[in-house]
Amino acid sequence: MTQHFSKVLFGMLLLGGITSCAPKQGGPGSDSSGTAAASIEHGKYLVKTTGCGDCHTPWTMGPNGPMQDTTKMLSGHPAGIFIPGPAPMAPPWMASIDMSFTAFSGPWGVSYAANLTPDSSGLGGWSQDQFIQAIRTGKHMGNGRPIMPPMPWPAFSNMTDNDLASIFMYLRSIPAVSNNVPAPIAGLPGMGAPPPPPAAGAPPNPVAPPSADQGRPPMPPNAPKRTK
Ligand code: HEC
Repeated sequence: MTQHFSKVLFGMLLLGGITSCAPKQGGPGSDSSGTAAASIEHGKYLVKTTGCGDCHTPWTMGPNGPMQDTTKMLSGHPAGIFIPGPAPMAPPWMASIDMSFTAFSGPWGVSYAANLTPDSSGLGGWSQDQFIQAIRTGKHMGNGRPIMPPMPWPAFSNMTDNDLASIFMYLRSIPAVSNNVPAPIAGLPGMGAPPPPPAAGAPPNPVAPPSADQGRPPMPPNAPKRTK
């Protein structure tokens, strides 16, 4: 009985060890057919459903309002759009986005969505492993500077290796767009860190503390009370 129990326990530990050490594979919606075409199709599905284009494709004004410029699909912040520096900001606001929705200003400085196309100014020189490591570790090309907000790498790092490889294969298959995205502008020390708390004895916040209504227009009389 005891021997049986310890065998089961040993089996469980072994299994647990194997599953926790094994690279993340499979998972819901992942492609297991192994063919390149199926991987590319799966990568396309993931890119379309996770909204990479929301930040990595420049937006332009179309007949029905803002739309993604498909001629520049996933090519990042257009090099021709000059950003003079971090956006001026007053509390309670802390981040701002430029007109093309590809440059982002906040406590981290200014970050520009990267060119994800296979051009040499994009991911052309990257290996699949560098791509997977960048998303997993939040480090440029997997071992460089921290990748700054708002790139949601902490969320995408939960994808399986199969998913990330499929995304990379899809990105390799899209039209190459030559676009040298500018280097980020450093913000606070330790880029990506939240703003430090005010030092003891520091002068009061230059902006009056927000009222309970946070500057929103007054509610009509008889309207239900705001809870937040
Ligand atoms: C909310 C906006 C946003 C979304 C959504 C987004 N990105 Fe990004 N991404 C960025 C920004 C901004 C940068 C540049 C960050 C920097 O320079 O530090 C970036 C950088 C990158 C980089 C370059 C990393 C490096 O090592 O330099 C890759 C690769 C990338 N994104 C892939 C993706 C993929 C794939 C998706 C969708 C699965 C995606 N991004 C979705 C904003 C976004």
